[in-house]
Amino acid sequence: MTAKITELFDNIWQQYIAVTPSAQKVHQLLGSGDDLINDHVAYRTFNLEKINLDKLAAHLTKLGYKECGNYHFEAKKLVAKHFEHENTELPKVFISELLVEEFSLQVQEIIKRLVAEIDSENVAKDNFLYSGRHWQLTSSEYKTLLNESEYAAWLAAWGFRANHFTVSINHLQNFDCIHSVNESIKDAGFILNASGGEVKGDETVKLEQSSTMADTSTVEFSDINLDIPSCFYEFAKRYPMDCGNLYTGFVAASADKIFESTNS
Ligand code: NI
Repeated sequence: MTAKITELFDNIWQQYIAVTPSAQKVHQLLGSGDDLINDHVAYRTFNLEKINLDKLAAHLTKLGYKECGNYHFEAKKLVAKHFEHENTELPKVFISELLVEEFSLQVQEIIKRLVAEIDSENVAKDNFLYSGRHWQLTSSEYKTLLNESEYAAWLAAWGFRANHFTVSINHLQNFDCIHSVNESIKDAGFILNASGGEVKGDETVKLEQSSTMADTSTVEFSDINLDIPSCFYEFAKRYPMDCGNLYTGFVAASADKIFESTNS
């Protein structure tokens, strides 16, 4: 089972670095060439039946992952869940879904049209979590979505792929604190997401997070090609709970700011 899971995340990583070359450079910087342990991998989807959160989660639960937490992001009109495997060196997976019915009719119509183009059989296939876009999209539809929801526009442009990977600072050999990770990354010329401060959360909430701003990559729309934000890299440090085990949940107020790493 673990070999299957490792293979899945290898495939997801390859798809991710193809549009996020900075992640591979930062990976090299933090690990000095060694493999790193990922704290989590994050996904975005729409809450429409055909491809909702549960449909993505099914690919993980069949590999032994269990649902462990529920989150609601009111302003961004999202809900999310996180999934964990009993092998704590395997990444947690954070899956959010956009509450489509809360947007304008124009936006809802675009999203429903995109989802209608998906072949349901492909949603159940083993490669779905790294299958990319399953629909045609014009640049003006992208801009209409972007006007109401950066999340919707990103998902429409990029489809099903990791939105970000997250390095576990707890497992790094050469770093122990998020501030020194951040300084090294900035010294190497990468830009951090400063929304809500570079470090989101602290020891009192048992989780500190920071992230790069997304890379820019070219997307082929039906009419033209545009360079738009792709994916980003996150860094997380977890603190022990009273029982001595590391906290494994997520902090909604921090995640809310991390979502903004794909803003232009
Ligand atoms: Ni994250």
